[in-house]
Amino acid sequence: MGNTFYGGCLLNRYCVLFLLISLGFTYGDVSYSVAEEMKRGSVVGNIAKDLGLGISTLSSRKARIDTDGNDKRYCDINLSTGDLIVAERIDRESLCGKKATCVLKEELVLENPLELQRISIHVKDINDNAPEFSEDLISFQIRESAVKGARFSLTEAHDADIGTNAVQSYNLQTNEHFTINVDAGVSGRKHPELVLVKELDREQEKELKLVLTALDGGSPQKSGTAVIHVTVLDANDNAPVFMLF
Ligand SMILES: *[C@@H]1O[C@H](CO)[C@@H](O)[C@H](O)[C@H]1NC(C)=O
Repeated sequence: MGNTFYGGCLLNRYCVLFLLISLGFTYGDVSYSVAEEMKRGSVVGNIAKDLGLGISTLSSRKARIDTDGNDKRYCDINLSTGDLIVAERIDRESLCGKKATCVLKEELVLENPLELQRISIHVKDINDNAPEFSEDLISFQIRESAVKGARFSLTEAHDADIGTNAVQSYNLQTNEHFTINVDAGVSGRKHPELVLVKELDREQEKELKLVLTALDGGSPQKSGTAVIHVTVLDANDNAPVFMLF
């Protein structure tokens, strides 16, 4: 009998509505925007006002915040003000990595009758990470016969933040032999490379040490450095001994 009832019900689109109403669920959707790393207790918004609920209703209907699949409850409700407040550290990088948008889903639960209101919290990136090179020392061996305009690819610096808070530019310590060129790929990734602007002369300089700086576009701006170590190789290093014969 039960099977017949539900089977028949599936064919009737009003049934779905009926089942939802009879179970006491209604779904709304409120959304907020909050910067990551806000102090605990910071106010995200006034959810009582936004849902048109009286303050007394919150207590009488035992309002509480539940997570919607998240293991942590990042927000809480202050029953005396109706404010949605930060309850746990919200770190955008660990929640969403490099994703352009980061949304936390929570629910406001009210009883008598049971009611769920979905809450979407958009977490905004702040510049809490600095650019970093995977190695502190980047070594190159460059023959002194290398011609002007020769390019040497450098490893990119990484920044856990996104958008303008990620790496925006590179700077090379002023010197007469090299400049830096940044090739912005289609993906938006910025590949830095060393460009030889004045030929090397091993007789004058056997090695060079240059500080490379990666800068992000945050405010305040953050940076990371690595040292480029260039060993100048003799152009005749490989002259074969057997040539003498
Ligand atoms: C709720 O807000 C009131 C007024 O701002 C404050 O005094 C109280 O400490 C808050 N309660 C909680 C649990 O945060």
